[in-house]
Amino acid sequence: MNPNHLLPFIQSRRTCYQFLEKTEFPVHLKSIQMCLNAAIYAPNHKLTQPWRFWLAGEDTQRQLAHIYADNRALKNTQTLTKELLGKLEMDYDRFYQKAFDKFMAIPSVILVGQHLSMNKVAYKEDYAACSCAIQNFQLMAWSLNIGVQWSTGPIISDQRTYDALNIEKENIELIGALYLGHIDEDCLPNKELKRKPINEVTTFLN
Ligand SMILES: Cc1cc2nc3c(=O)[nH]c(=O)nc-3n(C[C@H](O)[C@H](O)[C@H](O)COP(=O)(O)O)c2cc1C
Repeated sequence: MNPNHLLPFIQSRRTCYQFLEKTEFPVHLKSIQMCLNAAIYAPNHKLTQPWRFWLAGEDTQRQLAHIYADNRALKNTQTLTKELLGKLEMDYDRFYQKAFDKFMAIPSVILVGQHLSMNKVAYKEDYAACSCAIQNFQLMAWSLNIGVQWSTGPIISDQRTYDALNIEKENIELIGALYLGHIDEDCLPNKELKRKPINEVTTFLN
């Protein structure tokens, strides 16, 4: 690997919020397997390999879409004023349908969980390891022209999601929902997203 290629590649990755249409540009299982294989080679202390992944099929995505839509519709109807809701001509049902359709349009959905350790130090290390795994996943995806949004939105803490996956909160903590799809170049936000220069965030000690 040429280091002169690696840095621009890492810098070019962006969180994607919109993808090419899924029937025309599906995310193939083989690509997802490559991303998962990159993920599981993340560093992890004591080789705890705390990451767990659930790749949603059509039925599961529909179940998750209902949970997503309910959370979105509830939040919008509870936080927006009646006046604004009237102006927007929106109510719970309309928000629900909009959010449901949006979720169902995501080409591929993967949930990521952290297998829970009873030990406080290990818990923190394992979260770090899972985060490294997700970044490995995102970079491999990017190399395949697949964009990812790592979401920590309400569906990952909703009990109904745990029920849908048949997992217990005592054993597994969901730490992210990964939304994947082929990159729609027109819809890349923050394409030139700036980072603080290293001199601002690094102290070079004697
Ligand atoms: C732990 C974590 C949680 C995140 N949760 C969300 C989220 O819930 N919704 C979202 O739109 N983006 C989420 N993101 C993506 C960040 O918003 C994104 O990485 C950030 O805006 C920088 O953009 P970039 O990924 O294009 O560099 C999350 C990222 C991380 C690392």
